[in-house]
Amino acid sequence: MSVFAIGERDFTLDGEPFQIISGAIHYFRVHPDSWRDRIRKARLMGLNTIETYVAWNFHAPSRDEFHTDGARDLGRFLDIIQEEGLRAIVRPGPYICAEWDNGGLPTWLTATPDIVVRSSDPTYLTEVERYLEHLAPIVEPRQINHGGPIILMQVENEYGAYGNDRAYLTHLTNVYRNLGFVVPLTTVDQPMDDMLAHGTLPDLHTTGSFGSRIDERLATLREHQTTGPLMCSEFWIGWFDHWGAHHHTTDVADAANALDRLLGAGASVNIYMFHGGTNFGFTNGANDKGVYQPLVTSYDYDAPLAEDGYPTEKYWAFREVIARYAPVPAEVPAERPLVAERSVPLTHRVGWLDVPLDVDEAVTCDSPATFDGLNVSGPFVVYERDIAVEGDAVLRFNQVRDIAYVFVDTTFVGVAYRDHHDAFIPLPTDARGTLRVLVEDQGRVNYGPRLGEWKGMGTVELQGHILTGWRVTPCDPLLAERAAWHEISTLSDAIPGPVMLRGDVHVDVPENLYLDTSGWGKGAVWVNGFNVGRYWSRGPQHTLFVPAELLRPGVNSIMVFELFGVASAHVVCAAGPDLGHTEF
Ligand code: GLA
Repeated sequence: MSVFAIGERDFTLDGEPFQIISGAIHYFRVHPDSWRDRIRKARLMGLNTIETYVAWNFHAPSRDEFHTDGARDLGRFLDIIQEEGLRAIVRPGPYICAEWDNGGLPTWLTATPDIVVRSSDPTYLTEVERYLEHLAPIVEPRQINHGGPIILMQVENEYGAYGNDRAYLTHLTNVYRNLGFVVPLTTVDQPMDDMLAHGTLPDLHTTGSFGSRIDERLATLREHQTTGPLMCSEFWIGWFDHWGAHHHTTDVADAANALDRLLGAGASVNIYMFHGGTNFGFTNGANDKGVYQPLVTSYDYDAPLAEDGYPTEKYWAFREVIARYAPVPAEVPAERPLVAERSVPLTHRVGWLDVPLDVDEAVTCDSPATFDGLNVSGPFVVYERDIAVEGDAVLRFNQVRDIAYVFVDTTFVGVAYRDHHDAFIPLPTDARGTLRVLVEDQGRVNYGPRLGEWKGMGTVELQGHILTGWRVTPCDPLLAERAAWHEISTLSDAIPGPVMLRGDVHVDVPENLYLDTSGWGKGAVWVNGFNVGRYWSRGPQHTLFVPAELLRPGVNSIMVFELFGVASAHVVCAAGPDLGHTEF
């Protein structure tokens, strides 16, 4: 039986000093058939450990479900880590931040009336315990003392940036221990005095999250914890992107020098991210510090291993640095192959406003029901009522979370964006018919006090009067599959949205695809029924990554749900990724 412990100055493995050289890979952002490839490439860069968060909401779409198969098979992910000869760090939260929808908290949880998340509120703690009890059979037997790969676990996440409820941290720690999690437990905080003071407990090992000013950060950590190993649990070597902003990159030499300083100081490190992966489906989070900023689909993070699993310049630079401190295998991963650009026609369409909604799901209400009240995890809900006005009229939206696409019958009249604080939409003269407001949840805030806030829309006024009597229906874009498709005759014609478009991609040998979205407005794409994520002309991201594992030899289906319109009815598969412009 091996023992991993906290020594006077180092982590120790069976009594010998052990410097953790880890990299983050979130299993929930990588196709499960790629897990082994990504983990192996981490080993080939010289890493000895893989770290992952656990995203509660990925496993528990409702309170009574907890899925652990396929993409949610955390046990298999950990087993592959072990088979590759690496150790594992598990960070189950329950809150994880991570630019992930709602910071990993399920929406059914945050919708519970009066719940106070990330605190010792008994309602919250009861649910947290249930969650950790679901995880225990996966995690507990895979700890190093049972011959498994897990050497460390983290409690909460950057709690010092959020609260100071020590009873909560104590309770969580006790739950971990009672479930048999015996490996050393850590906390992570940004190395500011108040955050370090509030984010941890004497029984938990304090670590930091930072990407630069290494000596200063390590000194601050040391002031707060006079013995034990120094660890940067999130060594930020890149950053995430928001729609409408630039693509973040960091200087390779600066990042490599910072890694050198960390390892040279004898500190342990977890590179955040080693391989970022993708926010497939509608899983991205958002930030809001006064302006709502949803995350893009790619979580490439400018990481050493790119979103599509190929090494970058940073990979080679880090490998060289690590080789100064630890053995690095001689084998190297292959470079990204050249792929030929090609264009694939979209052959069928269905006007999305012609698709019948699921009437069984409809509710009627006076104040527009929220997504949370309806218990839908989104991202689309339609609010409808009839209107009849004479002359000119203006709609006023009092809250939009996060985009309201407004129609009268099937005529598009305008869009209100939360990030622009839009409130007014003029109606056509003598507007008469069904007012339809399609509201899109663009991703729940994952950091700060807006965690868990509701989605939907607030009251809507017409000529100063609050509109009541709404029919509210959740809607899945894939309802279009059941509708009557029309053949698209002229491939070069622009097609207005909202529309679902369909085409077939023929593949001889499956290889990664990079769907060029620059001729499209805003929407999402499904490949063989799998949602590869959102696109938006705001950028910066201009290609969507389709892992080769989603494709099969022969015919593969592509469906594009487009809200505004496309320039022409085809899909361009680009030669490689284009994550957009950087800052200049
Ligand atoms: C913090 C959080 C992470 C992530 C990073 C930024 O360190 O702990 O989950 O949000 O910021 O990428």
